Amino acid sequence: MIIAATIAYSPLLRQALTMNTHTNDARPRPEIGARLDQLCLQSPDPKRLASFFERVYDMQVRSLPGGLIECAAAQRRVLVTQGTANRVAFVGYAFPDAAALSDQRAAVAARGVALLANPSPLFDEGAFAVRDPDGNQVVFGIRPLETVASEPLPGRLQHAVFRTTRLDEMVDFYEQKLRFIPSDKVRDGEGVMRACFLRTDIEHHALAIFRSPETRLDHFSFETTDWEHIRRWADDFSVKRVPIFWGVGRHGPGNDLFFMVKDPDDNLVEISAEIEQVPSDRVMGTWPHEERTLNVWGNAIMRS
Ligand SMILES: [Fe+2]
Repeated sequence: MIIAATIAYSPLLRQALTMNTHTNDARPRPEIGARLDQLCLQSPDPKRLASFFERVYDMQVRSLPGGLIECAAAQRRVLVTQGTANRVAFVGYAFPDAAALSDQRAAVAARGVALLANPSPLFDEGAFAVRDPDGNQVVFGIRPLETVASEPLPGRLQHAVFRTTRLDEMVDFYEQKLRFIPSDKVRDGEGVMRACFLRTDIEHHALAIFRSPETRLDHFSFETTDWEHIRRWADDFSVKRVPIFWGVGRHGPGNDLFFMVKDPDDNLVEISAEIEQVPSDRVMGTWPHEERTLNVWGNAIMRS
């Protein structure tokens, strides 16, 4: 535990320790090998929310069967459906091929989790869903990695974050049943877990879960390429009169640069960059429950 904490507290040391990335690390990866591909937001006013993503994130809007609205641009897809604000209908993780999806289906079924029908029109019939302890549906499907030409404002859907009143149960489900791997956990002075960052591939987290008095979506992230593009996104938001709500900052766990705005439903939407790429043998870190953990540059939004 002391070693893990030391690693977490020293960004330079951590950077040095994570130099052995996938490009020169031939060891087999321990993760399931999926990535966040899509999420479906519930909204009391789906058209208003979809219009926001169309205008602010340059996404194309179209209607899909079942009353869903798709907002899409290169490497980012958000669906919107009628429902309760700040809750997702589902989050979708994509594998690159049928064999990897089949492995996950078998592993999840073997762990006693009920397999549900796929609710996403963006995955084919091979996809399946499960329900987490908070009732969020998690869908697994197939989508080959998109290669995209250079674009002025790249932003790849990269991670989602939930707030929950039952953190231990949620983390146990994602870790033990869905085989997500915890990269870092946040614990308070009494040793109680307050947050957990979990990965599904080489990137530090594809999902994070925060202890909170309320159960809801906290935020989701569009990962851009670098610091320069953080600036470009912020300037673009300025022109569109969308104010920054939190940031610019750097998260402790994940080491990513970020800022966040709010959508019309009060969801936080993050632009991030330079999220940590983890070595295959990365030791899980432990961080203290304090503002500096969430933003090593300054103030933070404490969820509990
Ligand atoms: Fe984030």
